Amino acid sequence: MAEEKSFKYVIVGGGVAAGYAAREFYKQGLKPGELAIISREPVPPYERPALSKGYINLENKSSLPGFYVCAGSGGERQFPQWYKQNGVELFLDTEIVKADLAAKTLVSGTGQVFKYQTLIAATGSSVTRLSDFGVEGADAKNIFYLRELVDADELITAMNIKANGKAVVVGGGYIGLELSSALKVNSLEVTMVYPEPWCMPRLFTADIASFYEGYYANKGINIVKGTVAAGFKTNSDGEVSEVILKDGRTLEADIVIVGVGARPIISLFKGQVEEEKGGLKTDAFFRTSVPDVYAVGDIATFPMKLYNDMRRVEHVDHARKSAEQAVKAIKAAEEGNSIPEYDYLPYFYSRAFNLSWQFYGDNVGETVLFGDNDPTSAKPKFGSYWIKEGKLIGVFLEGGSPDENKAIAKAAREQPSVESVEVLSKEGLSFVNNI
Ligand code: FDA
Ligand code: NAD
Repeated sequence: MAEEKSFKYVIVGGGVAAGYAAREFYKQGLKPGELAIISREPVPPYERPALSKGYINLENKSSLPGFYVCAGSGGERQFPQWYKQNGVELFLDTEIVKADLAAKTLVSGTGQVFKYQTLIAATGSSVTRLSDFGVEGADAKNIFYLRELVDADELITAMNIKANGKAVVVGGGYIGLELSSALKVNSLEVTMVYPEPWCMPRLFTADIASFYEGYYANKGINIVKGTVAAGFKTNSDGEVSEVILKDGRTLEADIVIVGVGARPIISLFKGQVEEEKGGLKTDAFFRTSVPDVYAVGDIATFPMKLYNDMRRVEHVDHARKSAEQAVKAIKAAEEGNSIPEYDYLPYFYSRAFNLSWQFYGDNVGETVLFGDNDPTSAKPKFGSYWIKEGKLIGVFLEGGSPDENKAIAKAAREQPSVESVEVLSKEGLSFVNNI
């Protein structure tokens, strides 16, 4: 039987949140051997957003060690030796298959036992699969999902083999939009398919979406809306050859990429930790209902102080900040101190082609579009405000400068009163620049 290992702190999951938590432990003072990170991935924590951007751009490829955490927030990169030098034990290629929170014990797939005093759960999300919806033929070769480095590597191999071939992208969310752009840049012929009347309905208004749909169409991307992939045909090698749509149409395909959402990985903790809204319920310090167990990143449903409700956020900025908050809280509690509650301002962003947008705040209420959202413009710059109960609470901006992005963040945080939507529409970006 494998030797039992014991640590003061264990982080289960080795993604973005784990990497930023390790940095915060180091900043707060860490003794060698106190902290272990257990990850089923073969590499130390890296900035996951790179996978759908630079990493799969075959013309201008970024690669590891370029995007180890904390590169994404302008911090020092934590190479494998960083963990060694700072006495952090990294268990890679190690999947935890059982967590007994009462006994403070984790067990890996190979039977390795880990004991901890304090646990940080940072297991992130897994992709939703078309087979979860019972779509026939969804296990054919060359149908890809993207979550981890290994997925990206498989996709890159297929893109090289099927160079100049046909790609169908299923899903019109973050993965759908970012991957369609990457495939096009890599010279594949791209068709997007999604069920909604416009892309990214989780965040975009119809006006915002019409810009991106127009821009993508001008880049030669074919968009099929209002239907879903209902099945796949394969060739004699078992590779996907056609996507059968629910409305009866078919699309030829050498490669299919699916981005139909993600689900938090919380099965290890089922029945042991209180859940809410699909995640592990935490307080403003990311403490779960079980003493000495914290949850951060995608899996945490935490109090969003600004809007006075409980939310789960599947974005990198929150993964970083929640991890830092949890570690600060752990260290403060040990010293008998307290820290301020987590007071998060939602921040989402994306980049595709030469486009780049940022969003801060909440996307509920009345909306006002401003700026130039003509997809044929040489330098489009436009945005949208969300107004609720007379206050500006959310701002989206495409093509903003660093200062303008700072200004929209400030506005979303301060929630200034809005005299009328007409005034906002007329003033456009100068409204937030003057706050
Ligand atoms: P994360 O998924 O980073 O890490 C979880 C880790 O836990 C993984 O290494 C996993 O293998 C491991 N794990 C899970 N179960 C385990 C077990 N039982 N045992 C051991 N290890 C286990 N956001 C954004 O704001 N802007 C962006 O541009 C992007 N872009 C982007 C691109 C792509 C391709 C993806 C998939 C996601 C994004 N995101 C994003 C979302 C962002 O990356 C995501 O919210 C954070 O990575 C979440 O960080 P976590 O640490 O919670 O999970
Ligand atoms: P998503 O929730 O952004 O989009 C899912 C999309 O799937 C929906 O918009 C819809 O168009 C589509 N859909 C749902 N059911 C479908 C079906 N049966 N057939 C076809 N389409 C269907 O999820 P995602 O794009 O898969 O992203 C996965 C995760 O990765 C999320 O957590 C996301 O936040 C994260 N991510 C974030 C970024 C970013 O923040 N820039 C980038 C990439 C990934």
